[in-house]
Amino acid sequence: MRGSDRIGFLDTMDTGNNFCCGIVRPLTTYSWQFQDSGELLACSRTGPSRKLRHPLMEKNIESHLIEKRVFKPAPGFAKRARIGSLNEYRRMHRESLEKPDKFWSREAGELVWQTPWKTVLEWKAPFAKWFVGGKLNVSENCLDRHLTGPNRNKAAILWEGEPGDKRTLTYQQLHRDVCRFANVLKRNGIRKGDRVIIYMPTIPEAAIAMLGCARIGAVHSVIFGGFSADSIRDRVADCGAVAVITADGGYRRGTIVPLKKNVDDALTGETSVKRVIVFRRAGNDVHIEEGRDVWWHRELEYVDANCPPAQLESEHPLFILYTSGSTGKPKGILHTTGGYLVGIYSTTKYVFDLRDDDVYWCTADVGWVTGHSYLVYGPLANGATTLMYEGAPNWPEPDRFWRIIEEYSVNILYTAPTAIRAFIRWGDEWVKKHNLSSLRLLGSVGEPINPEAWMWYHEKIGGGRCPIVDTWWQTETGAIMISPLPGAVPAKPGSATLPFFGVDAAIVDEAGQEVGPNIGGKLIVRQPWPSMLRTIYGDKERYKKTYWSEFKGSYLTGDGARRDKDGYFWIVGRIDDVLNVAGHRLGTSEIESSLVSHPKVAEAAVVGRPDELKGQGVIAFVTVKSGVEATRALKDELRNHVGKHIGAIAKPDEVRFAEALPKTRSGKIMRRLLKEIASGNTVTGDTSTLEDFNVLAKLSADE
Ligand code: PRX
Repeated sequence: MRGSDRIGFLDTMDTGNNFCCGIVRPLTTYSWQFQDSGELLACSRTGPSRKLRHPLMEKNIESHLIEKRVFKPAPGFAKRARIGSLNEYRRMHRESLEKPDKFWSREAGELVWQTPWKTVLEWKAPFAKWFVGGKLNVSENCLDRHLTGPNRNKAAILWEGEPGDKRTLTYQQLHRDVCRFANVLKRNGIRKGDRVIIYMPTIPEAAIAMLGCARIGAVHSVIFGGFSADSIRDRVADCGAVAVITADGGYRRGTIVPLKKNVDDALTGETSVKRVIVFRRAGNDVHIEEGRDVWWHRELEYVDANCPPAQLESEHPLFILYTSGSTGKPKGILHTTGGYLVGIYSTTKYVFDLRDDDVYWCTADVGWVTGHSYLVYGPLANGATTLMYEGAPNWPEPDRFWRIIEEYSVNILYTAPTAIRAFIRWGDEWVKKHNLSSLRLLGSVGEPINPEAWMWYHEKIGGGRCPIVDTWWQTETGAIMISPLPGAVPAKPGSATLPFFGVDAAIVDEAGQEVGPNIGGKLIVRQPWPSMLRTIYGDKERYKKTYWSEFKGSYLTGDGARRDKDGYFWIVGRIDDVLNVAGHRLGTSEIESSLVSHPKVAEAAVVGRPDELKGQGVIAFVTVKSGVEATRALKDELRNHVGKHIGAIAKPDEVRFAEALPKTRSGKIMRRLLKEIASGNTVTGDTSTLEDFNVLAKLSADE
């Protein structure tokens, strides 16, 4: 079996519009059962026509014997770990669910509060308030808190730029830089509660900008540097940002990404943005708009390093991070101060089991939630040394990561399955060139890790000695929700294992009933947790509808999963129209809207296709307006159009022209069928509601 086979299997379970574990369409119910090995045991269907078959029933599921392996924590590791046995984990997990106030008070009590909280949780479903009455500041907890002890001169950030430039900032230096930058923000009229966009490469100044905002109570919204001007424009408009913090450019695979130029393009016409602060990173030429733009380094000349942390209510907003949903409009996920901090502090501490002298490296970009929680806030709140790398993993050669691990003696590596699959493809010789013996713990995040990739990671990178924490969570959850604790929970390759403290996760059927072992269903969370999103910025109704309406009082994750007889969670993937491309969520409708905005396009449908490297690839079916010729050049034009509109990550891997798209009689595009065609399979699912069968025949013939 190859790595991609497993993904192919996973992917068939997500049949787009009509999928869910348990029910496929209103009249047709499917349920399936798995063996502990992961093999499909049975798939049954109830519904109108006996001829209907779900792809899962057709697919020849291979033996997943590999999943039977269990990796117990090594006794030496367990002995030194914070949580050193499964019993200890179970006891604490039980306590965290039965007595959440006690549990979370203890965790929160390890942090600095300017005013103590009165009530741990106020829960008026689906609106939660954590640590009510308490006041604190995230930057104080990440910085000032470490200045009075031995951490003062410890490296807070070890940074390496793509061209090879290096910097080290101790906690004291970082504190000073953050205070000065916070004063720059104030000097430029930015106040508590204002929204500030950060559009930067992964450089220390991105963290300084985030922490500077947190220090004065401004709400940051970081936009991934790979997103385009239009994406910035939409986000600025949605949150009414008053300022943008950016850099002239950033490095990616040896070229300079023109960040400032993208910001300029985004801010043409009417905008709420009054100020743009520009950090000089790449030295490329930029336009400076008089009266709006200022240079970061010039501004620093006017400020000192005295900036006491603002006293903020526990529920004061900390950041908004946009993520894809199943409609065209990105959702501004809102996280607040106290609960988020406690969540990321506690998960970083237990899941990565940090030790004082660890060098911890999370390879995520600051633009994603992993960059927020486990590159910046989580490690700094714990007084850890966090390593930051600006560029691509294969620049200048495919051993860049291993070179960095060797050079900095990295102890903990946290990366994504998509990267691991790329490394496998590039060949073991790149790994073998380096001494990776400093590593003691590995982490994975962003998408299901297929057992083969898990084994490779374990053997080739971890030398067979490092536990792997496969961490399941989301932008919305703020912090890790399901993951092994490395000294306590035996790992099974491909499973995120057991829920973190305070997480009451379950798998339910359509009726909201918890399903038995090895039955697929929807993953929900039944109790609020501290780092949960509080709302979708400016859209309470969408928040309620998206996450809390399907199962009363429970949070709907949008993922399908099963649990085995040991209670281990096996995440299958998204059940809504959201793709997971290289560990990043992309809404199919966003890409469709972008395609349709092209003057030559009449209609578009976007689906995912299993991709050996990226997990899922983006395939677009497009019909053109009458009189337009469907040429190869137009395909490229459309791919670039999406790249410009949304960002390179959303560019379709393939554009296919079609005379018409398969639709139901009510006009809904049958994405499930397109998905099967895109994957090179014959259409086996239900086609009874298809309006015009010729369309399907033509599409299949067109392959
Ligand atoms: O489908 C799950 C997948 O990524 C989604 C969350 O994406 P995002 O909000 O961009 O956050 C990514 C980083 C936390 C989830 O709904 N996912 C994330 N981690 C895992 C995963 N799927 C399986 N296993 C994981 N460890």
